[in-house]
Amino acid sequence: MRFPNSLNEKLKKRVESNLLRKLSQTSLTYDFTSNDYLGFNQLKEISEKATQLVEEHQLSFNGAGGSRLLSGNHSLYPLTEDYLTAHYKSLSSCIFNSGYTANLGLLSAIGLRNTIFLYDELVHASIRDGMQLSHAKAYKFQHNDASDLERLLTKFESDEIDVFVITEAVFSMDGDGPNLNRFLELCQAYKAYLIIDEAHSNGIFPLEDLLSEHDVKDVFARVVTFGKALGIEGAAVLGSEELTTYLVNFSRSLIYTTALSPIQVAKIYTAHQLLAEKKEELNWLKENISFFRSMCFQLRLDQYFVESFSQIQSCVIPGNDKVTEIAEKFQEREFHVKAIKSPTVPEGQERIRFCLRAYTNPSEMEAVLKLLKQWLV
Ligand SMILES: Cc1ncc(COP(=O)(O)O)c(C=O)c1O
Repeated sequence: MRFPNSLNEKLKKRVESNLLRKLSQTSLTYDFTSNDYLGFNQLKEISEKATQLVEEHQLSFNGAGGSRLLSGNHSLYPLTEDYLTAHYKSLSSCIFNSGYTANLGLLSAIGLRNTIFLYDELVHASIRDGMQLSHAKAYKFQHNDASDLERLLTKFESDEIDVFVITEAVFSMDGDGPNLNRFLELCQAYKAYLIIDEAHSNGIFPLEDLLSEHDVKDVFARVVTFGKALGIEGAAVLGSEELTTYLVNFSRSLIYTTALSPIQVAKIYTAHQLLAEKKEELNWLKENISFFRSMCFQLRLDQYFVESFSQIQSCVIPGNDKVTEIAEKFQEREFHVKAIKSPTVPEGQERIRFCLRAYTNPSEMEAVLKLLKQWLV
């Protein structure tokens, strides 16, 4: 079978610029790449309790058997959504198959012709794709910059248009986040609606802490994903009951896809139950973040790192070739460390992103930073 020339050209360009992506398996010893921040991916209790729950509900089917709007809305869906609503101190919740489809389905559904999206310049690809699928106009503001956001809010203040402000609680590439209290105050002052993607903060930095001066119920929509600290898969959009009703009616990535199987939804339930119990892992992760940051200062590496309070610590190494060379040296020494190249990040902002986990050993962090110092300075 012939492969179209136009597509081949695109692949050739990737190869020529040394940017061809490949799916690989890794068995490297020291993990600084996965998003399994709390070690939940390995927690047998999640699947054991989920299996029990499925049996109790007599739902031991392999799949959901259809879309949620047809035959797929098995009884574990409402049970789990009620649990999530209470867990996240929200008013309502709607489960999606992934964070990607949650952002796609939310933004494409709410972005009508008379809508403006104001988004942080570094938001995740799923947010960009969701905006692109909508009929709305989108304008970016500078990363975490409340003044730049206010400039745009002033420009688009009008009773005729709905303005949605989109940001992340912890940014996936930089590990930092905006002043959410200020962002919500601006939204309230300019009658805009705030949307927060909590993919990387979920389970680690609760929104009620990041938004300590306000009620989390005042956020228009929250996207929580379960493939990172929760160690499983799936996502939910949290917000008002009207928002859930709206999504059930207009969100195409919810309507036109097969629902999650009972066991997957049961895992969402049990992983959240365990999150409330497993406080030790969270403490270890927080200790690891402090240790990593203090080692950075001690080794005078802080100048190369993006300022970040979270488990995502990025060392900027400009140039795809340079960052790849350093990542490969790490891999030769059994450190699972990946280069994040442009165009995934802006040119000149290429980086190595160290994802810290509850189970990362301090000696591994010390070793990784000492090697980095040797190769960088
Ligand atoms: C900020 C952000 N939002 C959404 C997603 C997508 O989530 P999922 O992996 O559940 O599709 C990701 C995944 O990397 C992310 O980093």
